[in-house]
Amino acid sequence: MQHLNIQKVIVHLNLTDYNLKGDSVIKQTRKLKDLTIIFKNEESYEKMNQEQIVYTVKSWQPVLEGTRGGLFFGTTNLRPGKVGDEYFMTKGHFHTLSDRAEFYWGVQGEGMLILMDNERNTWAEEMQPGSLHYIPAHVAHRVANVGDSTLIFGACWPSDAGHDYTKIAEHGFSARLLEIDGKPTLIGE
Ligand SMILES: [Fe+2]
Repeated sequence: MQHLNIQKVIVHLNLTDYNLKGDSVIKQTRKLKDLTIIFKNEESYEKMNQEQIVYTVKSWQPVLEGTRGGLFFGTTNLRPGKVGDEYFMTKGHFHTLSDRAEFYWGVQGEGMLILMDNERNTWAEEMQPGSLHYIPAHVAHRVANVGDSTLIFGACWPSDAGHDYTKIAEHGFSARLLEIDGKPTLIGE
């Protein structure tokens, strides 16, 4: 009788707070100073503590970035806050291979997934614990925290998708998510 390999758990996902643990987990931190340009109100932005963390991303990338046919898994913790009337949000990106899609889902907190297609049509989807979001190919995406607590969401994307931040850095999205009369409101530019 041949005894075949049974592997131990190498990456562990905490199902409550989505903390990802394991030797191969990669952690990225984005501070306010890393998010220049993306917020409209530059005066408010400059007055704020630039060292404060806006979001952290942990990911498991079981294959090399760029590998065709693989998948990556990530979790993001996005802190609550605003720059002027604009909610804290992620940088936003198209995929470098723009025909690659992605799943996002809400875990904790209240958020808004902001989406923009190649024709610069922008729309948003409410993100809450359990909400599942299919981000189609050729659609840029970013997430804003519209609540008072940390927003946690999960993501799964193809390992060859890549992140193209430059188009968003140069042209932004065609709409901004602002708090107006206490409510998240998507305002076109
Ligand atoms: Fe993505």
